[in-house]
Amino acid sequence: MMSEKKEKMPDALSLPFISGTGGEWTLYTKFQKKGLCGPLFSTLSASPEGVDLSFFFIFLGCGTGLCGPLFRNLSASLEGVDLSENMVALARNRQVYNHLAVGELVEAIQHWGRQDAGARAGAGAGGNAGVGGDVVLAADVLVYFGNLEPFLSAAADAVRRRGGLVAFTTERLEPAATECQRGGGGWKLTTSGRYAHCADYVVSTALGTGKLRLSSAQDITPRWNRGKPVAGTLFLFRASEL
Ligand SMILES: C[S@@+](CC[C@H](N)C(=O)[O-])C[C@H]1O[C@@H](n2cnc3c(N)ncnc32)[C@H](O)[C@@H]1O
Repeated sequence: MMSEKKEKMPDALSLPFISGTGGEWTLYTKFQKKGLCGPLFSTLSASPEGVDLSFFFIFLGCGTGLCGPLFRNLSASLEGVDLSENMVALARNRQVYNHLAVGELVEAIQHWGRQDAGARAGAGAGGNAGVGGDVVLAADVLVYFGNLEPFLSAAADAVRRRGGLVAFTTERLEPAATECQRGGGGWKLTTSGRYAHCADYVVSTALGTGKLRLSSAQDITPRWNRGKPVAGTLFLFRASEL
């Protein structure tokens, strides 16, 4: 006999589950408990900004494609890019990405933003045709960047024609840090070999592009270090339409 035990689905998450082919809820509860995919997914799907199932997504630093299955049915097309050929090969095995490429993320967004998303995704993907895309995602990859301006500017340009979204995580440098004070650079290379960013720096750099406005910023745990949670932030920005 099958177990009667079912997890209750919050109303705010109804859109992708009603519209998807099923299975996302199980994946969501699994990923919500560990890693970044769950928070990223719930922020996008529960956002008052709204996500449309005809949207074109690009996942930067997609790694092994861990988050891919969760976004597959939330999007008309899901593209992934990673610097590592091995990572892309593993992501390809999941068979959930419409397109995967080995490449550097800022160049990849610029390229993606110039393409006709519908044509690249193939006729079967449906959705709105047109240049650029709708959602740029970057989970646990901006820890390899100090200066976030090139990423933010390229991401805003790529989704701007469609008034799209830019969602990403950073490791958080606490406001008391010297780098977060007036005259500080806004970020720091930490002893873990990753960059951490002041929230004010991220927001002011994004707003400084003149193309993004802040939708939400949420505390998250991007990873654990020796049994202790690392402080992080999940940002969601909306690009202003051209
Ligand atoms: C910590 S993993 C995160 C993987 C995935 N986003 C996840 O959350 O499961 C970081 C990934 O970013 C990739 N990466 C690092 N710098 C990059 C860059 N400049 N452009 C594209 N990918 C990059 C690495 O190869 C690695 O696969």
